[in-house]
Amino acid sequence: MARVKVWDLPVRLVHWGLATLVAGAFITQSMGGEAMVWHGRIGIAIFGLLAFRITWGFVGSTHARFAQFVKGPAAIRAYLKGQWQGVGHNPLGALSVLGLLGALAVMAGTGLFANDEISVEGPLYPLVSSAFSDSATKIHKLLEPLLIGIIGLHVAAVAFYVKVKKDNIVRPMITGWKDAEAEVAHAGPVALAIALLIAVSVTVIAAGTLLPAPATAAAPAGVTAAAANPAAPPPAW
Ligand code: HEM
Repeated sequence: MARVKVWDLPVRLVHWGLATLVAGAFITQSMGGEAMVWHGRIGIAIFGLLAFRITWGFVGSTHARFAQFVKGPAAIRAYLKGQWQGVGHNPLGALSVLGLLGALAVMAGTGLFANDEISVEGPLYPLVSSAFSDSATKIHKLLEPLLIGIIGLHVAAVAFYVKVKKDNIVRPMITGWKDAEAEVAHAGPVALAIALLIAVSVTVIAAGTLLPAPATAAAPAGVTAAAANPAAPPPAW
């Protein structure tokens, strides 16, 4: 049996990066207080990684591409009848990929506009009304159990493959290699540059870096704004 590079390096880095950052987001959220600054930073990083992965789904190597693994109900039925033969995500697993990426995007996206009614505000909070921010906050909180459920299902499905079907699908997600015969078109440096450019731009925008600095009380001549407003909080991001 030949060996095929089923998951390219960017797919694997994004995967384990997301798993680590999502764990970090849950931990910092449960700690609260000062740790919420890190909760926000982690959320921005998750948003940037998702932008990378979504772009990679169009320009990446064969098995990273959505067109390669997102299939209709007929393919899912064929898979359930044991008639699917393929190397990347199976048609049912593809649904969990979309569910994970989609739930994380909404979670991180709503977090950018959220507020905790006391001191914590997402980096893009100044762009929206407080009613919009409150709705984003509600969705952000409502999604938490759903996200835990989807991640739990994902990890349970992986465990089922490893333990019951005796198919170690974790190893390819670490090494990239799988024993199979398949043609793989690798992505080149231009594809990588495009995905990186989009991911960095999205991260910079999500972090609120392009927003004007918050207005401060007029300082008397010769006094800097920071000296005039010693109580003003430092920028959180
Ligand atoms: C917060 C935790 C996690 C998240 C958000 C997550 C997310 C994802 C996503 C989005 C994919 C699709 C990969 C892609 O095409 O880019 C995926 C695939 C995969 N994940 Fe995870 N994952 C998590 C935890 C884990 C853990 C703990 C394991 C193993 C112990 C794991 C093993 C795998 C494997 C083996 C695949 C490939 C499945 C296949 O062969 O189709 N994941 N995961």
